Amino acid sequence: MVIEKICCIGAGYVGGPTCSVIALKCPEVKVTVVDKNKERIKQWNADKLPIYEPGLDKVVKECRGKNLFFSVDVESAIEEADLIFISVNTPTKTCGNGKGRAADLKYVESVARLIADVAAGDKIVVEKSTVPVKAAESIMNILRANQKPGVSYQILSNPEFLSEGTAIDNLLNADRVLIGGEETKEGQLAIEKLCWIYEHWIPRSKILTTNTWSSELSKLAANAFLAQRISSINSLSAVCEFTGANVSEVAKAIGTDTRIGNKFLNASVGFGGSCFQKDILNLVYICECLNLPEVAAYWQQVIDINEYQKSRFTSKVIESLFNTVTDKRISILGFAFKKDTGDTRESPAIYVAKTLLDEGAKLNIYDPKVEHAQIFEDLTYATGSKEYVKERVSLFPNAYSATEKTHAIVVCTEWDEFITLDFRKIYDGMMKPAYIFDGRMILDDEKLSKIGFHVHTIGKRNMRRGLKRTWGTLDCA
Ligand code: NAI
Repeated sequence: MVIEKICCIGAGYVGGPTCSVIALKCPEVKVTVVDKNKERIKQWNADKLPIYEPGLDKVVKECRGKNLFFSVDVESAIEEADLIFISVNTPTKTCGNGKGRAADLKYVESVARLIADVAAGDKIVVEKSTVPVKAAESIMNILRANQKPGVSYQILSNPEFLSEGTAIDNLLNADRVLIGGEETKEGQLAIEKLCWIYEHWIPRSKILTTNTWSSELSKLAANAFLAQRISSINSLSAVCEFTGANVSEVAKAIGTDTRIGNKFLNASVGFGGSCFQKDILNLVYICECLNLPEVAAYWQQVIDINEYQKSRFTSKVIESLFNTVTDKRISILGFAFKKDTGDTRESPAIYVAKTLLDEGAKLNIYDPKVEHAQIFEDLTYATGSKEYVKERVSLFPNAYSATEKTHAIVVCTEWDEFITLDFRKIYDGMMKPAYIFDGRMILDDEKLSKIGFHVHTIGKRNMRRGLKRTWGTLDCA
């Protein structure tokens, strides 16, 4: 049997782009992406897609209506599919056992139950969502306990390694594809069938096959390692700010060692996104359940340093502005968790904005891609008060209007367009003294200082005109 029809349950940041690329590269396969969220599916079928991802529009427009379909009819898509990707969200649990750490598998479980209910023939069920190790066993238990005569299942683990902002490129030119399955004849056959899909554009040498548990754990491990590098360089950025070492120079010096490598060594206000924190918390929880407290504590530290970095950066803003931001207007440039995406999940900007609001500041926010409604929703959730946010937060269509008459600029996202702004013009329109806090190390601090700004860049001692001793704290500038 070759795969003729694929169903993907979950039309989010993973399901949408992944299956669009599969449809592009496998024109003979019918790919149907389904979701219970009607609005999201409506947007996938409209001109303006529900997510912003460079290159995605082109792929979707090329395949949609030919061999790529978006639908809310989950049952029919399951029924006709040979292979089903589960790409639903697996957030951190918010209540009960493992609250705040364990992955909540309620959406995965409900999908497994629906598949068991609807399936009338053989199905290969593929975990695309990031799940705890051994999740495939739970899915299999549900499927087999509800198995109808004449139906058989194979469960594969095929974690997704795409990175938002570069998803299409990551999918087209994947470093590797990982497929885990049972070490039985049927399991190996199922692996071969999924390999066949990817082999349409990925060389076989880049398709790694493992047992199911290695594959599941590798996804958590990959995210833990990536986040660990960010926390490692961020921890050193604090040392740099106090000693005069420059974190960019340190990163370059260590990154040219081929054993270390130069990627993921950019110091910043902290990592965000829907995955790193959630997946590490999940790993920590698994280690605790396995009675491995030292391993759990080791990985927990990656998250603790990230929290420390966000709070350290925000405290620097407040201390520099004479230790009070009450009723000061501060401009936040960038609200997405990284450039080239409109996604704000776990964005450090939310933490920064919330803390400044708690301190009584008024905020002018601009982001090139995040919807205004999303910013209001995030801040309302963070502060717990819609009225307070409405009263204190203003949103702007560009960086120039957002910075006018403000006391300080805080750069939270590394959007390219911020690098080339006319900062002389911006400076002229701001309150004096004018401050810039570069949480992404993207601006030319020397040039800004010459214009007259007080500049603070993560991982760098402040410039000549930079921050001086502040009330009650010792600043090394
Ligand atoms: P998302 O929240 O954007 O999309 C998930 C979708 O699943 C939602 O549209 C939701 O309505 C739908 N859904 C949930 N339950 C459903 C059900 N019973 N029936 C039909 N639809 C249902 O999530 P995202 O970001 O796409 O992530 C999905 C999974 O992939 C997660 O496990 C995540 O950890 C993992 N992942 C995410 C990456 C990312 O960059 N966002 C990268 C790699 C993995």
